Amino acid sequence: MISLRRNFLSKILLLVIVFILCIFYIRSLNNLNAISADRTKFLNVPQQQRLVQLDAADSIDQQIQEPQDNQIIIGLVNENNKVEGSKYKEKTINKYELEILRDLKKQQEIPNLGANGAIAHLRDPDDIAEGERQLSKIALNEELSNHISYNRSIPDARHPACRKKSYDISTLPTTSVIIIFFNEPYSVLVRTVHSVINTSPERLLKEVILVDDGSSNIELKKKLDHYVKTRFNDKVKVLRLKNRLGLIRARLAGARLAKADVLVFLDAHCECVVDWLQPLVQRIKEKRTSVLVPIIDVIEAKNFFYSTNGYENFQVSLFYT
Ligand SMILES: *[C@@H]1O[C@H](CO)[C@@H](O)[C@H](O)[C@H]1NC(C)=O
Repeated sequence: MISLRRNFLSKILLLVIVFILCIFYIRSLNNLNAISADRTKFLNVPQQQRLVQLDAADSIDQQIQEPQDNQIIIGLVNENNKVEGSKYKEKTINKYELEILRDLKKQQEIPNLGANGAIAHLRDPDDIAEGERQLSKIALNEELSNHISYNRSIPDARHPACRKKSYDISTLPTTSVIIIFFNEPYSVLVRTVHSVINTSPERLLKEVILVDDGSSNIELKKKLDHYVKTRFNDKVKVLRLKNRLGLIRARLAGARLAKADVLVFLDAHCECVVDWLQPLVQRIKEKRTSVLVPIIDVIEAKNFFYSTNGYENFQVSLFYT
């Protein structure tokens, strides 16, 4: 009797456990369905609508700040550009413009430094020492970057067959390139923007959106605004986040502003090869739910050498999410 009863009880217990396991199983199936249903929704809703739901930008200051108090007197000079008694004319220049002109002069000190992605070296012993110091501190030779042209070229490392391929640019979707930065070295960031503009067909690149994810580096503030305003017209916008949101939420904040058909997220320290954009957007034109990742080569942090795997190593990757 007792053993029968025990048997009965253990059967009940077993049934209860199986029942609970079933519930868990069904629940997780439901979750899976919910996720995939959500994902389809996400992919089919037009961009603007879907981004409204992503609530990351409460703290966004969308205003691109005007430089204030930006006039400084660089000299009291007469008509012959000599400082002289009371017969002077005040000559003023925007303080940020002055810094930018100094930067550009630096890039002319060693002509063609790093051109075509070549290994670059500084010459001045003080600059070399400064570069070494930065390399050990921020893992990048910023002084060297400051000496390399924003417009330096990099080699075309594509497979020759890719170079022959032509794209009908007039039918491809347009792009908003979104770049998040947090205390990125100024010259590296500016070179990234130049590179994107230099290598993208005008029609395909609707805009570049720079998102400052709460940087403290002063160079990335009004000086950057001034550079963007005076060198890139309206093509480049700067979005300042009041608080640091982190990479993904900052990307979403940038995406909310984007006006083009396709969103392209780039790191703040990139240089693009010629015609990099067309094959990416061509795939999206063919299948609008495509998510693409370009092949990423390496720029050496110590000497800015562009090193490529070469086209012999053809890459096919699968990403699981
Ligand atoms: C980069 O190239 C553009 C277009 O050719 C030119 O307007 C600009 O002055 C160049 N800037 C630098 C820093 O070389």
